[in-house]
Formats: sequence, C-alpha cells, structure tokens
Amino acid sequence: MPPITLLRFLEMQKLLSDSPQLLSVIMGIAQSCKSIAREVGHGALLGNMGDVGNENVQGEQQKTLDVMSNEIFIKLAEDNPNLAGIASEEMEHALVFSGKAGDYLLVFDPLDGSSNVNLNLSVGSIFSILPRPAGDSVLVEQDFLQAGTQQLCAGYALYGTSTMLVLTTGQGVDGFTLDTASGEFMLTHPGMRIVSDTQEFAINMSNQRFWQPPVQRYIDECVAGADGPRGKDFNMRWVASMVAEVHRLLVRGGVFLYPLDSRTKGKGGRLRLLYEANPMGWLLEQAGGLAATGHRRLLEIEPIALHQRVPVMLGAKEEIELLLSYHSLKDPTA
Ligand code: F6P
Repeated sequence: MPPITLLRFLEMQKLLSDSPQLLSVIMGIAQSCKSIAREVGHGALLGNMGDVGNENVQGEQQKTLDVMSNEIFIKLAEDNPNLAGIASEEMEHALVFSGKAGDYLLVFDPLDGSSNVNLNLSVGSIFSILPRPAGDSVLVEQDFLQAGTQQLCAGYALYGTSTMLVLTTGQGVDGFTLDTASGEFMLTHPGMRIVSDTQEFAINMSNQRFWQPPVQRYIDECVAGADGPRGKDFNMRWVASMVAEVHRLLVRGGVFLYPLDSRTKGKGGRLRLLYEANPMGWLLEQAGGLAATGHRRLLEIEPIALHQRVPVMLGAKEEIELLLSYHSLKDPTA
C-alpha cells in the first residue's frame, strides 16, 4: 500500500467533503507542531532551553520554549479564518478574534512536560478542537467551557525520538510519524487500540502518602505483584510528561493516574480539564479504554473555569473500572 499522508488520511475520513474548515484547522495544527518540533529539536544550540523568568497562570515557571510554542499556536490561529478563538495553558484568558466568523475554538497546551526539555526527554503539545456555540455572535470565554463530549478533534504531538501526531475525529485513533525528508506526517499507526491485559502503571509514587484510600489500595495491589490479589507482577513507569505517558498507553497498554490527593484537593486535582484531561480522555476512549476522575467519566464534566483542574485516570477499561469500583466502596480498603 502506498504511504498515506495526514491530508490524504483526513480526506479518506471524508473530512474534506464534510468539513473542509475543520480539515484546514487540523492541518494548521500539524503545521504548528512541525514548527515546534523544529524549535525543540535545536536543543541547546539556539539558547532556548532556559526559563523566561515569569510564572504562567498556573504558577509554573515558563520556559522559553513554552512561550515560543504558544506563539506558534497563536500565529496559526490568527492566520486561520476558521478559528474564532483560542485558549492555552500559557494564557490567563482566552484569545477571541472579534473580526472572525470561524466555526471552531482551539484549546491547547503548547508544550506539555516542558520540565523535561533541558533533560532532552520527550515533551509534546496537546490540542482539542471545539465547536463555536451556535447563534453566538459575540464570542466570550464562557463559550470555551464545553464538556469533553463536545470535542470535534483531539490529539497530541509527541516530540520524542521521532515526532508523532496522534489524533481522533471520533473515528478511532490514528498515529502519524513526521518524515523529516518530505516534511509530511505519514500514517504509521493506524487504528490504535489499548490492550486490555496490562502489567504497567504510571503514577508519581512520591505523592503516595497524600493519595485517597481507593488509589492506595489499587497501587498496593499492583505493587504486591504475583503474591497479591492481582496474581501478576506489575512494572512502573513515570516520564513526567503526560504526552509520553499517554503514547505509551496507546502503544503497549497500562494505566496513567494523576489522582486527587490531600495536597491538590483544594485545587480540584493536578491536571487541567480542557486542554489535558479531555483531549487525552477522548483519545483513550476512542482507543477502547476509559477516562475517569475516580468517581465519574471525565468527558461528561461541565467545566466551570478555563484552567480548571481534575483528577485523571486513563487506561485499559478493566483497570479503570476496577478503580471506579474501589471509589464506590464505603470502605475502599475492604
Ligand atoms: O502538565 C502537567 C505535567 O507536566 C504532565 O505532563 C505530567 O504528567 C505531570 O505534570 C508531571 O507531574 P509531576 O511533576 O508530579 O511529576
């Protein structure tokens, strides 16, 4: 079979005939990710590895590459007539293009896991395309507060040993690898599915003492291995880059947990709903897995704030169901 480019693939998904405007937004995102891959790929050569010296709205130190990646996405949005507004991890408020009649909104984390950048480890961009609410002539920030079930396209770019773009438009999950010679994203991972039989979990174990009992129980049982109730040994991974973790889930299964804990409870969790949890949650569900907070399906949460945080549990269906069952017990240690 001849190699299939991203554009050809989206045309095959009938996106060109059904929604050329959406296709143009997706191709714009792909272009932005290529530009970010180039910036990230220069490593220390251009002196872009440091901190800007500011904190972003999340209270995190901004890296030069965070800011550059954000600017690349802003440029895409300004140039694309189909985007009416954008919201980013790096901006306190949504950016609304008042003169534009575009049908779509874009929310994104331009450079997720950026604390890995000067370690030369994997980082990524996460994006979610939402519809502009119908009949809304003046776009306001409130219009971005849509549940994950409303997403039209979601995905990530992984800047790893190769650059990959993995996305869904609600027709499964497909992965594309950047061919640096042609500059095209080529379909290399069609129909990605999460395997159900997992022996791998990802969680920041240094937070263990702050977790709630259901998560304590789940991880204790994984760690107990072949001698415990699970009857098999588990492996643990933690890259500290959500994009890399989710990519691992899609390629070889497992679970990724950033649960509520006693330190982040006041904030609602650690990861952000609109541009981290929802896009990754939809990808996981489209790949046959589940995405939950512990108590409910992630994608059904009605957001109340742009930078809202949530507990996140992503992975193989059976594992997330087990976690949900522990959360529903009165005594989760029983
Ligand atoms: O944006 C948040 C993020 O960088 C994720 O990519 C990653 O999964 C997580 O934070 C890492 O958290 P921690 O600092 O607890 O390792």
